[in-house]
Amino acid sequence: MCGIIGYVGTDEALPILADGLKNLEYRGYDSAGVALVNRDGIEVHKQAGEIDDLVLPDSSPETLGIGHTRWSTHGKPTDANAHPHVDCTGDVAVVHNGIIENYADLKAELREDGHEFTSETDTEVVPHMVEDELADGMSLPDAVATVVSRLEGSFALGVVAPGYDGIVATRRGSPLVVGHGESGNFIASDVPAFIEHTRQVSYIEDGDIAHVTPAGVSVEQDGEPVDRDVETVEWEAEAAEKGGYDHYMIKEIHEQPSALRQAISGRLDELHGDVDLDIDLPAEYLQSLEEIQIVACGTSYHAGLFAARLFEEYASVRASVEIASEYKFTGGRDPWRTLVVAVTQSGETADTLSALRRADQSGARTLAVTNTVGSTVTREADHSLYIRAGPEIGVAASKTFASQVATLTLLGVYLGRRRDTLGSSAASEILSNVRGLPGAVQQVLDDEDLVLEVAEEYADGDAFFFIGRGLGYPVALEGALKLKEISYDHAEGFAAGELKHGPLALVTPDTPTLAVLTDGTRPSETLNNVKEVESRGSPVVGCSSLEADEDLLDARFDVPELGVMEPLVANVYLQLFAYHVANLKGRSIDKPRNLAKSVTVE
Ligand code: F6R
Repeated sequence: MCGIIGYVGTDEALPILADGLKNLEYRGYDSAGVALVNRDGIEVHKQAGEIDDLVLPDSSPETLGIGHTRWSTHGKPTDANAHPHVDCTGDVAVVHNGIIENYADLKAELREDGHEFTSETDTEVVPHMVEDELADGMSLPDAVATVVSRLEGSFALGVVAPGYDGIVATRRGSPLVVGHGESGNFIASDVPAFIEHTRQVSYIEDGDIAHVTPAGVSVEQDGEPVDRDVETVEWEAEAAEKGGYDHYMIKEIHEQPSALRQAISGRLDELHGDVDLDIDLPAEYLQSLEEIQIVACGTSYHAGLFAARLFEEYASVRASVEIASEYKFTGGRDPWRTLVVAVTQSGETADTLSALRRADQSGARTLAVTNTVGSTVTREADHSLYIRAGPEIGVAASKTFASQVATLTLLGVYLGRRRDTLGSSAASEILSNVRGLPGAVQQVLDDEDLVLEVAEEYADGDAFFFIGRGLGYPVALEGALKLKEISYDHAEGFAAGELKHGPLALVTPDTPTLAVLTDGTRPSETLNNVKEVESRGSPVVGCSSLEADEDLLDARFDVPELGVMEPLVANVYLQLFAYHVANLKGRSIDKPRNLAKSVTVE
C-alpha cells in the first residue's frame, strides 16, 4: 500500500520527511514526493522511481510538510501521478492512501466548475474540493470534514494549506497514526515512518478529523471533540515494519480483508448485477470469443485454475489454464477468437512474459491481471486489470492469491454479462458473495488460535496431503504449495477423486490430510475420500461449511457460508496452518531457502 508521513513542529521538516520516506520504503512503492509549506505557498517535489533519486532541495527552513510513497492503483507510476497533489491555486496539498470510488463523478463535476487536473489519479479530486470549500470561507479542518463526507471508498488523507498552522488528517478504512514528539507532531500510515522521533502514538479512528499542530493534537468526530489514547510503542523499528507481527507473511495474511476491500472497491454494481472493470474489451470481440487461455506460474496458476472454472460457468466459454513455462509447447491455437489472460502478481515473471509474447506473436488479444501498475506485463499486454492487493513482501504469496481470485471472479461476471450468458440476478448473488469476502476472511483470522492448536498437534507429520474437488482442487494445490514452500515439509495437493488412483499408497497414520469441504467443491463426494484416508489411519482436518461432518474429522475449521467464495475463505485456514507449522519449526518464513519473490529467469 502507499505510505504517508507528515511533520509539524520546530525542527526543519525536510530531513524528517526524507527519513520518513526511506522508513516507508519496505512497504514497496513506485513514486515518492514531499510538500513543504511556507507562509505564502507550497513547494512540491515529487517523482516516479526510487526515493534515492528523488530530487530534493539541500535544505529548507520550513517546519511543516507531508510526504508520500505511492504504489499505483489509478494511473501509471509517473511524476504527474506521484503525490502530493495540489489544487488549481497550488495552495492545498494532499497525500492519500486507499481508493476514492466516486472520483470519476467528482472529477467531472469539478471540471465543469473550471478546475484543471494534472494527473490521472483518484486523489487529485480532494485538493480541488478543499479549494472550493476554502474559497467559501471555511477553515481547513471544516473544509476537509465537508469534503470527506462526499467521498466514497476507503482512504487516509493528510492535508496542508498555507494559513493553517498544521496538518489535517482523517481516515476511513485505511490506517493512520499520529505521533506525539518533543519538538513536533507527526502523521503516518504506520509507526516506522517516524519511530526514531517518537514512540508516543495515537491511532486515529474512522471518521476522525485530527488537527495536528506544533502545539499538540486534537481530534474531532462529527464536530465533537474526542479523546484518542496515547500509547507507547514498544517494538523496535524492524518489528514495527511488520506491524508487530513476527513475519511479513503473517502480516500479509492478516491484511487480506483490507486487500480484498481494495480489490472490489468501486467495481461492484449488485443492483444491476454487473461490474465496472475499466478494461474496455470490444463487445463484438467478447461475443465471438471461443476460448480463454490463462497462463501463469505457481500461486498465480492456482488462481487461474479457480478462475477457469468460473469463466466456463459464467461466460459459457472454453477456458484452459497453462503453466506459463509449458505454453510454448501448446500455445497459439485459434488466436483470433482466443483471449490470453496472463496472471502474475509481480508482472515480471519471465515464464509468464514469455507465454504472453508467444500469444501476442500468434495474434491473440492479451489481458494482464496483475498487482503491479507499470510492470512489464502491463506494458506488453493489450489490456490490464489490477488486483490492488498492495505490495507483498513475504516471498510466499498470500494476500495476492486472495485478491487475484476475487478480481478474476469479477472478470468472470464481466464476461458472462457481456456475452449474455449470466443473468443479472445470478450475477448479483455472486457479487454479494464477493462483497462478503472481507468479513468472512476476518472471521477465519479471528479463529487463528484454533489453527495454531491444530498445527501444534500435526506439525510432526511425515507428509501432508490436501484434497478438494471443483473449486476446492486449486485451493488444495495452493494449500500444499504454501506448506512445502515455507515449512520444507513434503506436501501434495490432489483432486480428491484421484487419491484412489495412486496417492492413497502414501497415506499412513503419520500423513495428515487437509480437506476442503465447502460450497463449490461437492463436499459430500469429498467426504467419501475423507473416509478412504481415514480408514488408512490418516488424521483429517476439514475446512468445512457443512453442518454435520464432525464424526469424520479429527479437527474442523469452520468456513462461514459464502456460496462460491467459500473455497477462497477456506484457503485462509490453509495459509494460517502452513504459517504456524513453519513457525513451530523455526523456518525462514519470509525468505524460504532457494526461492525468490520475483522469478525473472526462464
Ligand atoms: C508461491 C509464489 C510463487 C509465485 C510465482 C508466480 O507462494 O509466490 O509460486 O506465485 O512465482 O509469481 P507471479 O505471480 O509474480 O508471476
